[in-house]
Amino acid sequence: MASEPEVRAGLRRAGQEHLLRFWAELAPGRRAALLAQLAQLEPDALGAHCERAAAACARPPGPPPGLGARLQPLPPERLGSARRAHPDARRRWEEEGFRQIAQNKVAVLLLAGGQGTRLGVAYPKGMYRVGLPSHKTLYQLQAERIRRVEQLAGQRHGTRCTVPWYIMTSEFTLDPTAKFFEEHDFFQLDPANVVLFEQRMVPAVTFEGKAILEQKHKVAMAPDGNGGLYRAMADHQILEDLERRGVEFVHVYCVDNILAQLADPIFIGFCVWRGADCGAKVVEKADPEEPVGVVCQLDGVPQVVEYSELSPETARLRGADGSLVYGAGNICSHFFTRAFLQTVTREFEPLLRPHVAVKKVPYVDEEGNLVKPLEPNGIKMEKFVFDVFQFAKNFVAFEVCREEEFSPLKNAEGAGRDDPATARRALLAQHYRWALQAGAHFLDAHGAPLPELPSLPPDGDPPATCEISPLVSYSGEGLEVYLQGRELQSPFVLDKDQARVLRPQDT
Ligand code: UD1
Repeated sequence: MASEPEVRAGLRRAGQEHLLRFWAELAPGRRAALLAQLAQLEPDALGAHCERAAAACARPPGPPPGLGARLQPLPPERLGSARRAHPDARRRWEEEGFRQIAQNKVAVLLLAGGQGTRLGVAYPKGMYRVGLPSHKTLYQLQAERIRRVEQLAGQRHGTRCTVPWYIMTSEFTLDPTAKFFEEHDFFQLDPANVVLFEQRMVPAVTFEGKAILEQKHKVAMAPDGNGGLYRAMADHQILEDLERRGVEFVHVYCVDNILAQLADPIFIGFCVWRGADCGAKVVEKADPEEPVGVVCQLDGVPQVVEYSELSPETARLRGADGSLVYGAGNICSHFFTRAFLQTVTREFEPLLRPHVAVKKVPYVDEEGNLVKPLEPNGIKMEKFVFDVFQFAKNFVAFEVCREEEFSPLKNAEGAGRDDPATARRALLAQHYRWALQAGAHFLDAHGAPLPELPSLPPDGDPPATCEISPLVSYSGEGLEVYLQGRELQSPFVLDKDQARVLRPQDT
């Protein structure tokens, strides 16, 4: 390893010598740790990173000038719709998707490296419980959906099949996620089919272009964004693993959408049917301010413009029918062929432009005190997973129904939007609708019938509490056998093995 004078000389050249300012007082172990980190960062590369970050941050905030004039909505031929499609088309896509799943050609890949700072918890978001009657975590719901979709595909095709689950974590989320899965026996999935891998970290930088010391012997680092996926796949030979398993199609999704349909056969089938190499699910934006990226075209090429980069004027534009011109909201649910991922990791990844996120980065001050800033003081450079859409040969977007597929958990309890209460409500409303469709009737605690409201206002709780295990139903199918004509006392939980009415002390 390089010696302290060598590293110091490199840092001086790169304008980053301040990173050694506590050297004299560090114990030998800490000196070694700091030297190892700095050697790995490579002083010249670190200097270049810091310069890039400061230059990117010095550009005026908000959307790049002239962006609005370069945007167009996606042309109709690139847009499919589960909502508007004829039931025969949906059935065809679903059949195709199940066929691919049954042949072990589909994997799911979870982006779970984020720090969940907005949610305000110190552990990975997937371990969060939104307060369902079953107390399930997001990870458990996802694991059970995988098991169910494998079962459905297997039943249709008289086979046993596997949907391997790849989970991208970061330095912050890897250990707790691994431990959580072990403690929960991988939710009865075969551990050989659950592959955790870690994304890279990049240094956080001050507005003046200086790397930040988070401790006297440690440079502050942050995950390189969910677009770090492509480097992480290369680092950990994930493409080779996919190939070894014969996987052709990968469904990439984001950890916090409680309604995420993993390996959704309809979406997979649609993309395969259309010969797409890259696809994205979208929902109609609820309002111009909704913090979702917009799937559109930039200079004629498919792109997502992130909510932080779209000007309010452009976001508010409406067409002749009153709908938002840029209304195709990205729900972070993407389809990629393995071949496309291969090309991206080999050729295009270095071309991805990092985005600037201005954040509060804890640091040690000149006197060596740890400071938790109240205002943003640093820059994190992040790549975005969807920035590879521009390289696709045949990109398609697929519009789905928000009530069935999108309710993200971003904010802490009480925010009123994208928080635990809205996520819980979205899932329970969906299960209530499924139960009604299957012919169930609900009673209150005194046995009086509860109203039956097949369509609920978005912010209204369903009249009855009903939770259905994903092991019983993936998307509302197969419930008649349990629920047809039954009178169920709320709260009601339909488990894998039996339907049971919760007693008040269970809730
Ligand atoms: C993301 C999308 C946005 C979309 C919204 C829908 C991106 C860049 N933005 O926004 O267009 O409308 O979801 O809910 O995709 N993650 C990592 N590593 C990281 C950072 C994030 O794995 O370094 C993961 C998170 O754990 C999460 C996902 O990426 O699963 C999305 O990240 P998040 O920061 O929550 O993105 P949003 O701003 O919510």
